Amino acid sequence: ALRIIAPAHGPPAGRRVMSAAMSDDPPIGEILVQPDQLKERVRALGAQISADYEGRDLLLVGVLKGATFFLADLMRKITAPCELDFMALASYGSQTDSSGVVRILKDLDAPIEGRDVLIVEDIVDSGLTLQYLLRNLGARDPASLEVCSLLTKPERRKADVPIKYIGFEIPNRFAIGYGLDHAERWRNLPYVASLLRPESGS
Ligand code: IMP
Ligand code: MG
Repeated sequence: ALRIIAPAHGPPAGRRVMSAAMSDDPPIGEILVQPDQLKERVRALGAQISADYEGRDLLLVGVLKGATFFLADLMRKITAPCELDFMALASYGSQTDSSGVVRILKDLDAPIEGRDVLIVEDIVDSGLTLQYLLRNLGARDPASLEVCSLLTKPERRKADVPIKYIGFEIPNRFAIGYGLDHAERWRNLPYVASLLRPESGS
C-alpha cells in the first residue's frame, strides 16, 4: 500500500509533521536542513575540496551506510581526479549512543599508503567512531588523512576529533534523512529532520 511520509519538498522548517508511517515508528520532528540547503552546501564543499586536492591523489573513503547519499552528491561536485572506497563499521552501544568499541564489518579494498585520504561521514556525534577510524587508517601511512562530515553535533562530543570539512552543525537531536537512519528507516527522506522520541523505535 502507498504510504505518504511527507509532502514532496518537506514541510516548512520548524513545524511538526504527522507521518502516516507504521504506528511503531517514532514520528518525524522538525526539519533541520532543507533540500536546497543540502544542495548548496554540498556544492560549496565540493568546490573547496576540488581546490584543496588539485594535483594530489585523492581517495574518498565513504563510511557505510549513512554517508552514501552525501558522498554520491559530493563526489559529483569534485573536479579534481578522485577515487572511491568504502568501510563499514559497527559500534557497540544502544541505537542512539555509540560506545567507541568499534568493529570493522568491511575493510577498504586497497592499501592507502602514500595516498591523500578523505573520510566522508554522515554525522559526528560523540566522535568515538571517527576517533577509532582516524587511528586505524592513520596507522596505514596515508600521505594525508582528513575528514568531511555532512553533520556534526558539537554538544555531544566526547572525543576531540579534527573535522576539516563540515556541512552543518546541528543541535543535540537525533537526525534522520538524506542517508541517516533510525533502525534502518528514513534514509530516503530528501531533507534532514529530527526524530521525536528516538528510543521508542527499537
Ligand atoms: P559517534 O561515534 O557517537 O560519533 O557516532 C557515529 C555514528 O553514529 C554516525 O556515523 C552515525 O552512523 C550514527 N549516528 C550518530 N548520531 C546520529 C543521528 O543523530 N542520526 C543517525 N545516526 C547517528
Ligand atoms: Mg555513520
